[in-house]
Amino acid sequence: MSIAVVGSNMVDLISYIDRMPAEGETVEAPNFTMGCGGKGANQAVACSRLGSNVTMVTRVGNDIFAENTIRNFQDNGIDTTHVLTTEATSGVAPIFVDPDSKNSIIIVKGANAHLTPQDVENAREDIAKCSLIMLQLEIELETVYSTIELGNELGIPVLVNPAPASPELRLDKIRGAEFVVPNETELSLLSGMPVDDMDDVLKAAQVLLNVGIRNVIVTLGRKGAVWVHEGGSTYVDGRAVGAVDTTGAGDAFIGCFSHYWVETGDIEYAMRMARLYASDSVTRHGTQTSYATGEDFRGRLASDIAEVNLPGAANEKKA
Ligand code: RIB
Repeated sequence: MSIAVVGSNMVDLISYIDRMPAEGETVEAPNFTMGCGGKGANQAVACSRLGSNVTMVTRVGNDIFAENTIRNFQDNGIDTTHVLTTEATSGVAPIFVDPDSKNSIIIVKGANAHLTPQDVENAREDIAKCSLIMLQLEIELETVYSTIELGNELGIPVLVNPAPASPELRLDKIRGAEFVVPNETELSLLSGMPVDDMDDVLKAAQVLLNVGIRNVIVTLGRKGAVWVHEGGSTYVDGRAVGAVDTTGAGDAFIGCFSHYWVETGDIEYAMRMARLYASDSVTRHGTQTSYATGEDFRGRLASDIAEVNLPGAANEKKA
């Protein structure tokens, strides 16, 4: 089971705040933590911790952060053959988490903006051995589009997580994706439609299906996720937990979904497992630091996982 992630890496600088400062104001935050992040790297780490073989195609800067980022990939068992170094700063992400566990994120792409279609082409031989290619939007769109074309040429399914939301993303250029996995904001931007309730979500997802995308999986935060496809839709409810930090929960969902989809080919099953994995991650602080290993996940959540395998599993219903 091998997965290629063509995407970003960032250094997450997370401040736990009581409130955001007003313009011109300085406020003190009670806590701070620094860790490895970036949507591409997060998804890669989640897949790898669950047991997938992961090849990461990315660029780090030539600064003090780079060595730590590469070591982190290696410590997580990720193949770093295609982790390239650039004469630029590494990607960084100042993040603010409020007392309700919600986050606000600024990203500075740095070296990530230098990952080119040629870099991906150079990794062709290793990508060709994979069962899934995963993409997000913290790299240049040109690289995203050419990677989808490469996946189509090689006959490898491609998953696109259109995050962060980008008004420049062209729907016709991602029509070759097997999966597009937006949140509600990203879906609204992509479809040009309001997304205020489940009816809106289904209508907006249909816009994506109409251009040829086969599966749209909309993540709904604490409300769960819905899979929309030609045959209809399937809703997986959220799971109530005591959340302390939601940073990277979407990446946990996508990484876990990808791992179990590659393992079983069953979209609904992979979504239910992803719901458990992501909801578990928000009970811990940090981004990658909140992702369980496969052994821990399958041990600690054994009874929830057993329910996933039952017909008519709890918390799941057709939309
Ligand atoms: O999705 C969460 C991630 O978004 C963080 O790790 C941060 O680096 C930004 O990329």
